[in-house]
Amino acid sequence: MPRLISDEGRHTHPLVWAIAIVCLILVIAVIITGIVVLTVYIIYKPKAPYIKVAYAHLNNLVYDQSGLLQIDMTLTMVAENDNMRAHASFSDQRILLQFHGIDVAVLRADPFEVAKNNSLELNYLFQSQPIPLGEGARDTMDVALKRGMVPFELIGQARTRWKVGFFLSVRFFTRLNCHLNFFLLNGSAINSDCSSKTK
Ligand SMILES: *[C@@H]1O[C@H](CO)[C@@H](O)[C@H](O)[C@H]1NC(C)=O
Ligand SMILES: *[C@@H]1O[C@H](CO)[C@@H](O)[C@H](O)[C@H]1NC(C)=O
Repeated sequence: MPRLISDEGRHTHPLVWAIAIVCLILVIAVIITGIVVLTVYIIYKPKAPYIKVAYAHLNNLVYDQSGLLQIDMTLTMVAENDNMRAHASFSDQRILLQFHGIDVAVLRADPFEVAKNNSLELNYLFQSQPIPLGEGARDTMDVALKRGMVPFELIGQARTRWKVGFFLSVRFFTRLNCHLNFFLLNGSAINSDCSSKTK
């Protein structure tokens, strides 16, 4: 007896099967990726590399009545990699030393690597050009000279990368924004925590 009603509609269309399989594969891929990332984080416990000021000394400061400031400073920064199992690389470092928002010096470094659980010193010794101070900066300098304490700011950032093997890497940006105060009499820096933070 010929069938009058097609039962085609009750079978799942091959296209639907294909989409379902693709979706299943995607879900499995997402789960596997999640497990891999979680495992890597548990095993390696990545810590963001950072930069800190280890030593700062104001060797000389010349400020004349025409409002020109010239300084001579020694700065040691340390790039820290506290990861026990991963190398870290630093690049695109650009840190400004400022007085009252006026650029005094630019602290750069070529890209460099820091081995696992290690650190690297970056030494700077610089003499600034005579910098003309505006009105606000002159007031700040007058107050600083009276107090015998000169405030500077360190502002900037570096790109950091944490690497395992060839293909796995995590990128960070580390930003520095801190105050450095110096005794005018002997040039010593007043202890302050000056470490970059990862954003
Ligand atoms: C990491 O470095 C510190 C000091 O440099 C050292 O005391 C420590 O044993 C090192 N840890 C590992 C796991 O290498
Ligand atoms: C520099 O002078 C300050 C204040 O007079 C003093 O506290 C500090 O110990 C001095 N630093 C050195 C290295 O002598």
